[in-house]
This record gives sequence, C-alpha cells and structure tokens, in this order.
Amino acid sequence: MGEFRFLTGGESHGKGLVAVVEGLVAELPLEEGYINKELKRRQQGYGRGSRMKIEEDKAEIMAGVRYGLTTGSPIALFITNKDWQNWQEQLSVSPVEKEAEPVTCPRPGHADLAGVIKYGLKDIRPIIERASARETAARVAVGAVARRFLEEFGVAIHSYTMAIGQHHRERGEASSIDWQQVEASPVRCAYGEIDKGMMAAIDEAKADGDTLGGVFEVIATGVPIGLGSHASWERRLDGRIAQAVMSINAVKGVEIGAGFALAELKGSQAHDVIEPSPRSKAKQSLPWRHASNRAGGIEGGICNGEDIIVRAAVKPIATLASPLPSIDLRSGKKVEAHYERSDICVVPAAGVIAESMLAVVLADACLEKFGGDNLKETLANYHNYLSNIS
Ligand SMILES: Cc1cc2nc3c(=O)[nH]c(=O)nc-3n(C[C@H](O)[C@H](O)[C@H](O)COP(=O)(O)O)c2cc1C
Repeated sequence: MGEFRFLTGGESHGKGLVAVVEGLVAELPLEEGYINKELKRRQQGYGRGSRMKIEEDKAEIMAGVRYGLTTGSPIALFITNKDWQNWQEQLSVSPVEKEAEPVTCPRPGHADLAGVIKYGLKDIRPIIERASARETAARVAVGAVARRFLEEFGVAIHSYTMAIGQHHRERGEASSIDWQQVEASPVRCAYGEIDKGMMAAIDEAKADGDTLGGVFEVIATGVPIGLGSHASWERRLDGRIAQAVMSINAVKGVEIGAGFALAELKGSQAHDVIEPSPRSKAKQSLPWRHASNRAGGIEGGICNGEDIIVRAAVKPIATLASPLPSIDLRSGKKVEAHYERSDICVVPAAGVIAESMLAVVLADACLEKFGGDNLKETLANYHNYLSNIS
C-alpha cells in the first residue's frame, strides 16, 4: 500500500492543475497523447455545462519521463485552465488593491458552509475553487498513468452509465457490453431507447433549472488473482476501492459486485460456486473459475481473478439555476443560494473518473504484490507468480 502515490494541486479557475505521481517503475512507455485521450473522455457527456466547451484538457509531462519511458522518478503533470484568463483578478496569488466581492450565500449540498467555517474564511470562493470537480481532471491524468502500467498485465478498465434519474438499464454481463457503443453514446449508456430517455430527462431538468444524478458501473477485466489482502483492514482491496470511488465529488454510494442486493439473498443463492475450468492460452488462465460473479471479483479483500465490478450512486449536482433557499452569512438573512455556471448531470464523466481511481488502486496493489523498480523486473515477478499457480 502506498506504493503508487499521488497528490494534486490547483483551483478550478486557477492557472492550472498539477499532479505528482510517485512510486512507478522505470521503463514504462508513456506519452502525453495517451493521457490526453483519457482527459478528453472525462470532458464529454450530455449534461455538462459550458465550462467544458471552454477547456480542452491536455496534460504536459513536466518530469519523470525521458525518451518516452518513465525513469522511476516522480512524474509531474500539468494541465492548463484556459478559463484562468477570465479569473486572474479574482484568483490572484499576489495581494490586489480591490478584492473581488466575497461569496457569502452557501449552496446546500456543497462544501461551502462547512468549508468556510472550518477554515475560518469570510469568502466561500476558495472552498468553491477546490471542492469543484475540476480537480478530477488531474486525477484522470494520474489514472491514465496507472492504466498504462496495468495494460502490461492485461488489465482493461471500462465504465458505463446504468441510470440517470429514473431512466435505467439492467446490469448485463461484462462480456455482453459493447464498449465502442458506450464510448459513442452521449450518456455512455449505449441502449438506443434508454439513451434517448436519459437525454430527454437531462433536457427537462435543465429547462426547470434543476439537476440530475444517477448510477454508473466500472468493470476491470484481467486483474491478477491475489491483489489486496484479507490480513489487515487497510489492505483489503474492496475497502481501498470503496474509499477511492467514494472520494469522487458527488458520489454518495459504492457497491462491489451484487452489493446491497446480496443482503436479500440466502447464502445458497449469494455465493459464486467454484468449478474446474480447462486452461486456455489467456494471459491469466487458471484451472478453475467461478460459475457467477456476484462477489464482483473480490473475496476476503483479495481479488479472486474474476472481473472487478464496482457500482456507484451519484447525487444530483448541488448548484441549481433555480437556487435552493440558503442564508447570507454576513446578514444571517434568508436568501437564494449562490449560483454560477454549472453542470446539469455528470454521471457519464463520473464513471470515467472512477475508472481512473480504480486504476490507481489496482496499480498500487500490483506494485505491492509484484514489486520491482523496473517494468521488466515487475513483469518477471508476475510471470513467475503465475507459473507457480498449479
Ligand atoms: C465530473 C463532475 C463535475 C461536477 N460539476 C459540478 C458542477 O458543475 N457544479 C456543482 O455544483 N457540482 C459539480 N460536481 C459535484 C461537486 O463537485 C460536489 O457535489 C461537491 O464537491 C460536494 O461534494 P459531495 O457532493 O461529494 O459531498 C461535479 C462532480 C463531478 C464528478
């Protein structure tokens, strides 16, 4: 744990976002184009506000890569905020003669009220700037680095939208989901009629000055058996994944596998029977398999070799064009909450961010399991481990 670490810095409308990734092996091929492809996926999704039309997220690798290969040193990333040019006065690092009018009417459902009290501020602006999910662009850049590493093990991570508001589709087998269609869908759902219903619901919410939440699912395939551990609470892979996904702005619930539905089943119905399986040529071909995957690929805090399946509930966005009642912290009087340009629905983007957070947890767990300072060394340890599974 803590083998693959990262920190992000940056305000929503500041100069840009920075991330520093520490602990990755040397000689992993890594290019900016690969990271930028993921950043583009995060920016999309029906229901985003006009900010995403201003930005064209691109990460610059400032350190830790030479001639297209990681060096083992910290990887420093920078993403410019194009909108910064409109905010230079309001977010000036140096003192200014005339400060911007403070924001004093907290939005219910946001970090505004608790944040401004906790940090002893008179202006909510710094809380808005850092609680904003703009920060997740940096996480997606970091997640792309983790994803590139995981590809070396044959791991792939996808997500799709299960529900927006009341419009939802049932869970399917991962193998039956057409990921190309998901990528092409404006709501990342890929079921014609349901897509349309989701988009109409977003349009309706927008027209009402309202917002919508929903549910996404993330699936990781090809994950090596044995990541995580049953031995200590903080090493359990399910706990680590739940924390990482729950840390995404607006995520309010996380399930692994059948999750809450398991609570209604009997033991005989809930668990995944183990059966012999002929070995194939697949990278991680084991002499057994689970007949089903209600556990979502994790038993006892350890990856059991099946697909890892994570589902999360996203609440409706808290900034409403028809603002909720609040108070003005200066006067204590009833007012409407602060409003500024905002998204209507972010479920598709949240799925992409969750892919990144899952990639970070799995990269960390791979480094912990297989060790090594150089990609070749790590992969040799991995292949040696696989060949010892009888
Ligand atoms: C991709 C993404 C975009 C978001 N955009 C907005 C937004 O435009 N306006 C807003 O009020 N909240 C937005 N949020 C949610 C807030 O960042 C979040 O609700 C807030 O930080 C409070 O945290 P909490 O909801 O996790 O308690 C977004 C979340 C995500 C994942």
